[in-house]
Amino acid sequence: MTTKNNYVIRLEKENDYRAVENLIRESFWNVYRPGCYEHYVIHVLRDDPNFVKELDFVMELNGDLIGQNMFMKTVIKADEGKNIPVLTMGPICITPELKRKGYGKILLDYSLEKAATLGFGAVLFEGNIDFYGKSGFDYARKFGIRYNDLPEDADSSFFLCKELKIGYLNDVTGVYLTPTAYYVDDADVLEFDKNFPPKVKLKLPGQLFS
Ligand SMILES: CC(C)(COP(=O)(O)OP(=O)(O)OC[C@H]1O[C@@H](n2cnc3c(N)ncnc32)[C@H](O)[C@@H]1OP(=O)(O)O)[C@@H](O)C(=O)NCCC(=O)NCCS
Repeated sequence: MTTKNNYVIRLEKENDYRAVENLIRESFWNVYRPGCYEHYVIHVLRDDPNFVKELDFVMELNGDLIGQNMFMKTVIKADEGKNIPVLTMGPICITPELKRKGYGKILLDYSLEKAATLGFGAVLFEGNIDFYGKSGFDYARKFGIRYNDLPEDADSSFFLCKELKIGYLNDVTGVYLTPTAYYVDDADVLEFDKNFPPKVKLKLPGQLFS
């Protein structure tokens, strides 16, 4: 646990679950698609054997929940045959009212430091280099890592990597595999969303999915 300027970062507890799902829903709503999936994604991931309970963080400010971040174990299928254990991350969010005030970076840096302390070698996931680059992420292709079945000539600038142990991916080339638990079913998301207050889904410019 860490405290500074009235914020606290601590592990998520079971009685936080619904509040955290609601926070994620509020933060992701209409950002990447009309509505969002991420509140259901975390609901599913928590029960997955690859979920890292020691890295399941919430952030509070003056006692109010304002952010969360979590990690899953996965592998890079190395071209020479081995599976290289790595982490993937997210959802991560900060409540919409407090975006762009530095809390996301504080939460991210704290969780990465904890992941390193636990001995994990690298984190790979999909994100915006403008935010994650400030915490030491770079394009995963620079490390020789490809994204699932994405063709080699396709734009992979969304696919980011940070070594937690410097040199962990030296001499590794291969394919990163997204844990299957992230791929949720549309119908299940719709059903799950009925547990939350109604919200309007909007098609907005800049969304990645329809
Ligand atoms: C992404 C998110 C976690 C970032 O947290 P945050 O508290 O808003 O970010 P910070 O204030 O710590 O940002 C630090 C720096 O990263 C950059 N940054 C942050 N969000 C950015 C964005 N969406 N686009 C471009 N740059 C961004 C900025 O340079 C920022 O510094 P600045 O505000 O002085 O320019 C938060 O905005 C969020 O919850 N967004 C909605 C959900 C989401 O997209 N989650 C991530 C999915 S990969």
